Amino acid sequence: MDPEQPSLIRIIEEEIIDYLIRSHFFHPKYVSTLGLKGNERILEFGCGGGAMSIAIAHSIQLGGHLTCIDISEFWIKKAQQRLKNYGMIEFRTGDITKMDIPENYYDAVIIHFVLHDVDPSMRIDIMNALAKSLRPEGTLYIREPSKPSHGIPLLEIQNLMRDVGLREHQVDCARSILWKSICDGVFLKSW
Ligand SMILES: C[S@@+](CC[C@H](N)C(=O)[O-])C[C@H]1O[C@@H](n2cnc3c(N)ncnc32)[C@H](O)[C@@H]1O
Repeated sequence: MDPEQPSLIRIIEEEIIDYLIRSHFFHPKYVSTLGLKGNERILEFGCGGGAMSIAIAHSIQLGGHLTCIDISEFWIKKAQQRLKNYGMIEFRTGDITKMDIPENYYDAVIIHFVLHDVDPSMRIDIMNALAKSLRPEGTLYIREPSKPSHGIPLLEIQNLMRDVGLREHQVDCARSILWKSICDGVFLKSW
């Protein structure tokens, strides 16, 4: 699948399942578990059409800021259109490993259903760029499917995080009807 050019099926699926259903009924619940205060600087990697960004934006209304990054111009434009009424969001398109991203800056990085779609050979460079962007004691939240046919094993996530210098705070995998298993991780950057 070419993430820069989504198929028609993916566009329809995103509109109905991710935007109309998940962003209204499921993502706010997930974001509420992150314990955000509302004033954080957050980087969302692989924001897609902004289904999760909407829930994040609602949770950072006390002076927070959100940077949404995606490799696909199509999805960034979609997210921009859906989130046009929020002033504290910046949208950036491209390959994060080649972007000028501030280092030691973000309070949190959020990755939601992205890393399993990234070519395995690119994952370490991407995670390095994301880890650098976090401030010391900043938090990386990740949620990924771990289905063998279309997912990423929890062990690979744990190894990647360790290799880029992030320490594990919490991991948890739960069964899901669609994906068989979905894993949540919280990782911290040390001083
Ligand atoms: C399944 S969608 C998830 C979108 C969003 N995070 C959500 O949960 O609704 C995966 C997204 O990751 C993006 N993506 C894939 N590889 C990427 C990369 N190397 N850099 C940035 N974004 C990437 C795709 O363009 C797509 O928008």
